[in-house]
Amino acid sequence: MVYASAFRANAVADKIDGQVSMANTSLDILRQKLSAKQAVIGIVGLGYVGQPLALRYTEIGFRVIGFDLDETKVQELNAGHSAIEHIDDTRFAEARQNGFEATTDFSRIAEADGLMLCVPTPLNKYREPDLSFITDTCEKIADHLRPGQVIALESTTYPGTTKEEVLPRLEKNGLKVGEDIFAVYSPEREDPANQKFTTNTIPKVVGGHTEACLQAGIALYEHAIDKLVPVSSTETAEMTKLLENIYRAVNIGLVNEMKIVTDRMGIDIFEVIDAAATKPFGFTPYYPGPGPGGHCIPIDPFYLTWKAREYGINTRFIELAGEINTSMPNYVFSKLASALNERQKAVRGSKIMVLGIAYKKNVDDMRESPSVTLMELIRDNGGNLSYADPHVPVFPKTQEHVFDLSSVALTQKVLAEQDAVVLATNHDAFDYDLIKEHANLIIDTRGIYRTGEPHIIRA
Ligand SMILES: NC(=O)c1ccc[n+]([C@@H]2O[C@H](COP(=O)([O-])OP(=O)(O)OC[C@H]3O[C@@H](n4cnc5c(N)ncnc54)[C@H](O)[C@@H]3O)[C@@H](O)[C@H]2O)c1
Repeated sequence: MVYASAFRANAVADKIDGQVSMANTSLDILRQKLSAKQAVIGIVGLGYVGQPLALRYTEIGFRVIGFDLDETKVQELNAGHSAIEHIDDTRFAEARQNGFEATTDFSRIAEADGLMLCVPTPLNKYREPDLSFITDTCEKIADHLRPGQVIALESTTYPGTTKEEVLPRLEKNGLKVGEDIFAVYSPEREDPANQKFTTNTIPKVVGGHTEACLQAGIALYEHAIDKLVPVSSTETAEMTKLLENIYRAVNIGLVNEMKIVTDRMGIDIFEVIDAAATKPFGFTPYYPGPGPGGHCIPIDPFYLTWKAREYGINTRFIELAGEINTSMPNYVFSKLASALNERQKAVRGSKIMVLGIAYKKNVDDMRESPSVTLMELIRDNGGNLSYADPHVPVFPKTQEHVFDLSSVALTQKVLAEQDAVVLATNHDAFDYDLIKEHANLIIDTRGIYRTGEPHIIRA
């Protein structure tokens, strides 16, 4: 499909006060369709971010089409299964009844009035941004775009991506952004398994390429999200998301360093944080652990590091926090090794169980989980490794990490058989009293146990 001057020539006939108002015409039609809930919503990328958005728009009465390359995922969603543990299947079964459908057929992009792109933004093996998912998606959808659509990128990325990488691809067949179609960057702030906030109660930042694009973005989101935060440009919106995640990464790095210092000094870091958090201003508590994981905190900051180099700037806070955070599994392993050593044992040959291998509590997401690094350290040093995680029944095989392991049920006997257990992820489903009572040695990375019992070691 090529849209060029022919489409705009028609539009020129549509004049208000003698002014060419192509953008207004497209924008007005789009707005009307969205407010009447007659607009079709297309979600591209049906993962942790795309699925909640698809559900939200379906639940408020829009017809939603989900696009993904993964045929199996599309079939599962169409059968009413989410495949993400914290998203209840009943919601997708209901969404199906209300018109939601998933497809791998990208020619159907033309059916959607509002498109949200929720594809991955990982780092490549040189730890540089891998924008291939975004650029491939844009190439794929560009052939099916038509006038009057708003396209919002939701993936986390560096400032300039929308303008430099998305726009030229969307315009490749002659459609003009800001006139025929509208381009928006609106970062996703989804926090999987967070019980306090849902998709609609998390305020949403929106930046448009032009004023008309911003208005189209507001029209797209205002029905689904309680509070919108319009900003002046797509770059501002892109940077806002990075600042949020860099702020977390740096503070987690800081508190992890404080944990190492306080441990050496014989001070309880959790008691310190709790006391500091009583200050009613100027302090936000962050908690130490075995290192951050997930698709965001270990990755997103380096998107800025890469882009900042173009401007001759080294992002030292980001590098330092990254260094500290990625070293945390080694720190935990060293505490485990020395605790075993004190008990006349070596890692080699000891039975060691990791409790919690998802990257954070109450989720099944294993991406960038520090527990996996810890497991590799234990295995590579000859430990007799097992794990327990009610959210990850079988260790998912990836190219980088291979363990032929399944989750072990925690019983008195299983716990008592271990030389050590490493409490890596503080899932609510664990019976912490049972663990405390029957494990011989607990390496506690989450500050679950506040007592000074000799078989509990903080790490
Ligand atoms: N997971 C989170 O909690 C979270 C929170 C905020 C922001 N984000 C950001 O949102 C983006 C998506 O993250 P996610 O966790 O949902 O990823 P995900 O891996 O769970 O899902 C991405 C989906 O996109 C699909 N996909 C890949 N390439 C595609 C293409 N060309 N066309 C269509 N579908 C394609 C994949 O098959 C997958 O289903 C990332 O940029 C991430 O940084 C994630």
